This record gives sequence, C-alpha cells and structure tokens, in this order.
Amino acid sequence: MAQTLDREVGTVFVGREREFAALRAGLDDTLAGHGRVLLLAGEPGIGKTRLASELAAEARQRGTQVLTGYCYEGEGAPPFWPWVQIVRACVTNCDHDLLRTEMGSGAADIAQVIPEVRERFPELPPPPELESEQARFRFFDSLTTFKGTAARERIRQAVAKNLRTSLTKIAKAHPTLGRHLRGAIKTGLFCSYTPEMPVRWEL
Ligand SMILES: Nc1ncnc2c1ncn2[C@@H]1O[C@H](COP(=O)(O)OP(=O)(O)O)[C@@H](O)[C@H]1O
Ligand SMILES: [Mg+2]
Repeated sequence: MAQTLDREVGTVFVGREREFAALRAGLDDTLAGHGRVLLLAGEPGIGKTRLASELAAEARQRGTQVLTGYCYEGEGAPPFWPWVQIVRACVTNCDHDLLRTEMGSGAADIAQVIPEVRERFPELPPPPELESEQARFRFFDSLTTFKGTAARERIRQAVAKNLRTSLTKIAKAHPTLGRHLRGAIKTGLFCSYTPEMPVRWEL
C-alpha cells in the first residue's frame, strides 16, 4: 500500500503550491494535536493521488506514522475494505502486548471486521450479536479509541526511552549527577523527578 502511495514520489512534482500549503497546514495542525480531515476532489488524472503521496512523504519524513487504505472499484471487496488495510498495517509488526493494551476492550469489535486481530488474540471473546448499524458503530468507536490509545502509548514509550538513554549518557559524563538522577527520576505511566532531599541547582 505504502508502495503504491510512494510510487512516484521523488519524480518531478510541479505547481500545486496553494493546495500543498493547505495540506501542509492540516498536517501541522495534526502534529499539534488537532485532528484534521482533508478531502481532495477533482477529475480523474488531475493529481489527487500524487498530492496525497507528496503529503504522506512529508509526514513520514517528519516522523509521523502514515497508514493508507484504498477503495476497490470492482465487486467483491470485503466490508470496510480501506479500514481493513489500515488496521492490518497497524497489527503487522506490532508488539503483541502493546497491541493488546492499545486495543483494550474494543479488540473483539475490531476483530469482527479484521480477522488478523483474532488470529493474534485467539482468546478474545466472541463479539456480541448486533444489528449491522450497531456493529458498525461499535467498530468505529473501538477503532477511534484504539488509535487514540495507541498514539498516547507510543508517545509515552518514546519519552520514557529517551529519558533512559539520556540518563545513561549523563551517568557516563558525570557519574555523581547520573546516580542522583537515576534515583530521582521515575519513568512509567508518568515521568517524575522527585529527589529524596531538596536540591539547590546551580547552572
Ligand atoms: N503536480 C504534479 N507534478 C507532476 N506530475 C503530476 C502532478 N500531479 C499529478 N502528476 C502525475 O499525473 C498522473 C496522474 O495523477 P494522479 O495523482 O494519479 O491523478 P488522480 O489521483 O487525480 O486520478 C500521475 O502519473 C502523477 O504522478
Ligand atoms: Mg487517484
């Protein structure tokens, strides 16, 4: 999928400054924590996919996880096909325990639509029998919760990892300070700095 979207990135891309600026502003908003929906409309061949590809490339370069789902114009695609592709990409290569935490109680609803999720977690309870409208609602609700939790959990892990790496480097450069910080800094659900004795910092 990513391959399809990236196919032509790197070849000459002309014009579209105004459109790209609008898309980039949307990406900036998203990175600042305000979700955005951006729709590209136009005649076939006008450059919608290419513009989306350019934005995806920039987003990736800025450290964003880009997931893509394509509609299939022919017959026979399973329900929610674009979402199936998106969740599959999340599920593949994702740590088992991390994924289970991120999906939480919505895992069974997601598994109803995306069989790979049930393969990863065969112990999941069967989803409740629901009218299709309700099942659709529960699927999207669980998916939204999953992506929100996933983003928070990844940020938390990244912050904790960077802190631990920095502490190791500080301990090498300044063992006394390193020992102090190791004892005073806790990483986990929350990160905190709580020294046993008050410290007067002089920088
Ligand atoms: N701004 C652009 N600069 C260079 N090539 C472009 C540009 N926009 C589109 N193209 C090329 O034109 C072709 C059709 O564009 P595409 O994005 O597939 O159209 P759409 O998705 O709107 O049907 C592709 O080969 C694409 O790389
Ligand atoms: Mg297209």
